[in-house]
Amino acid sequence: MEETVCERSVGSVSNEIVRKETIAPGFKLMEIRAPEIAEKIQPGQSMILRVDEEGERIPMSVADWDRERGTVTLVFQELGLSTKKLGLMKTGQRLANLAGPLGKPAEIGFFGTVVCVSGCFGTGPGFALARALKEAGNRVIYIAEALKSEFLFWLDRLEEVSDRLIVTSGDRKGGVARWAKDPLKEVLESERVDRIYLVGCTFMLMSCSRASEPFGVETRVSLMPIMIDGTGMCGACRVNIGGEIKLACVEGPEFDGHEVDWDELMERARGYLKEEERALDLWEVDNWHHVRYRDREPEKRKKRGGPRRC
Ligand SMILES: Cc1cc2nc3c(=O)[nH]c(=O)nc-3n(C[C@H](O)[C@H](O)[C@H](O)COP(=O)(O)OP(=O)(O)OC[C@H]3O[C@@H](n4cnc5c(N)ncnc54)[C@H](O)[C@@H]3O)c2cc1C
Ligand code: FES
Repeated sequence: MEETVCERSVGSVSNEIVRKETIAPGFKLMEIRAPEIAEKIQPGQSMILRVDEEGERIPMSVADWDRERGTVTLVFQELGLSTKKLGLMKTGQRLANLAGPLGKPAEIGFFGTVVCVSGCFGTGPGFALARALKEAGNRVIYIAEALKSEFLFWLDRLEEVSDRLIVTSGDRKGGVARWAKDPLKEVLESERVDRIYLVGCTFMLMSCSRASEPFGVETRVSLMPIMIDGTGMCGACRVNIGGEIKLACVEGPEFDGHEVDWDELMERARGYLKEEERALDLWEVDNWHHVRYRDREPEKRKKRGGPRRC
């Protein structure tokens, strides 16, 4: 597939993977050489990459960057075909393309006390956001959520950029699920909060936005609808914000969480489940030597059902 003008103009660079780490089961970190992107990227922005010439476009938020080394870091969860293929790439290999920075940067400023909430892979971009908010002089309370405690990562880094770190997961408290919305509600009941930032899966963004609404605290959500071109031309990422249609890739991804039409967003995110499952099945048949046996068991796959997000 030909590169778009946008990809050439915003940073089609060496794209070499200079570091790769498994940071939790199914979660990987990749540091990629991309000096033109590293020079400009801000918290809240993203990139779109392709693993190979036949690969689909994968949007990924920036988790960190090093302007001197000319690298950007992303953290991803291996979910379906494209993220599994990405996870198989090795240090020294190059991505077919990497375009960015895309989207508007997060709104950073001095607000007073801010609460940042991240879920699963969202802890990557959530870290970059919290660091910028801390540098802007805010008191930062950070809530890190994961489906299981083994999926929590970067807690030491989060401690460095926050005044208080609350960790919660679906398997805590004797098996009773305690999701981010629970500690968020407790914080809101116990002290004054000036702003809330949410990064992670759509379900967490929705439940935390609903939890904060009665308290009237401005809640900024970083939306991750299906994106294709990432430049405002295909319309795939349209979201309904307070009755107005917005393109998350160019007008977002950050919006007011109390204005989002969550039902519509969830429905659109599930639009290609069958095709996604089928693409993964076909790829796993051809690449059985790369995948774990349990991933290929049809019964387990059925139970897993739909996107493997929390
Ligand atoms: C702005 C933005 C930033 C993102 N940042 C990160 C990140 O930092 N780390 C991370 O792990 N994931 C991130 N995602 C989600 C990531 O892009 C998807 O998980 C990935 O594209 C799934 O592809 P797949 O083939 O592996 O899985 P599939 O099996 O194809 O899809 C699994 C689920 O992922 C979602 N998805 C699929 N394709 C896309 C797409 N093109 N755009 C958005 N969602 C999609 C759908 O809800 C789908 O049901 C981000 C998405 C957006 C829009
Ligand atoms: S991804 Fe195509 S318009 Fe936003």
